[in-house]
Amino acid sequence: MLDSRARQAALAAMDIVEWLPRTAQIPGVAEDARLVETAPLASAGALNWDELETAVAACTRCALAAGRTQTVFGVGNRAADWMIIGEAPGQEEDRQGEPFVGRAGQLLNSMLEALGLAREQVFIANILKCRPPANRDPELAEAAACAGWLARQIELVAPRLILCVGRIAAQNLLGTQTPIGKLRGQRYSYGPREIPVVVTWHPAYLLRSPGEKRRAWQDLLFAKQVFGQGA
Ligand code: URA
Repeated sequence: MLDSRARQAALAAMDIVEWLPRTAQIPGVAEDARLVETAPLASAGALNWDELETAVAACTRCALAAGRTQTVFGVGNRAADWMIIGEAPGQEEDRQGEPFVGRAGQLLNSMLEALGLAREQVFIANILKCRPPANRDPELAEAAACAGWLARQIELVAPRLILCVGRIAAQNLLGTQTPIGKLRGQRYSYGPREIPVVVTWHPAYLLRSPGEKRRAWQDLLFAKQVFGQGA
């Protein structure tokens, strides 16, 4: 767990000046949690972690393989309670082989710290394992080609909560075209184990729109509330 100074620094990065009481009503959060079916995802079968990592590193299932420096598998605690899912590697992630290591990653770390979670405690992965050129949005076919890897990662981690950061992550994982503004503040469920899923904005969006950090904080508190309710 983080000490209170680290937590205050993380809150400051989120532009949060005070804690909300645990019991506070969270505006915009539906009272009745909604469950939706997740889209069917191809499975990477019964691969163990080593086999999965090797298979991902050698993947040529879509054209993005040709332009990558390396695949970005995912990082963190492989038995994490919280799994964070983003969109795709950017330039720095492609260079370092680790998700969320650029500016957006620093804000993601602060978001986690504000929740009392160290980056090492959670598992972080993306919808895509390879960087799209010029950081364009993933294409549907690319996300479909990559989906089995992420599905197997989720099976192996077996998190108690999945936090989708950004529209691309949320729409692909939940198999919906619903705009992110409508996906926030609801509890979804993923897969046969019905892992709770909560959606918030992407940290890169929050860097561009810092005025939305307070509402992102509400999402994080909602995620914490859902996590506290248990799977
Ligand atoms: N944005 C993402 O969605 N994922 C990363 O790994 C980096 C930036």
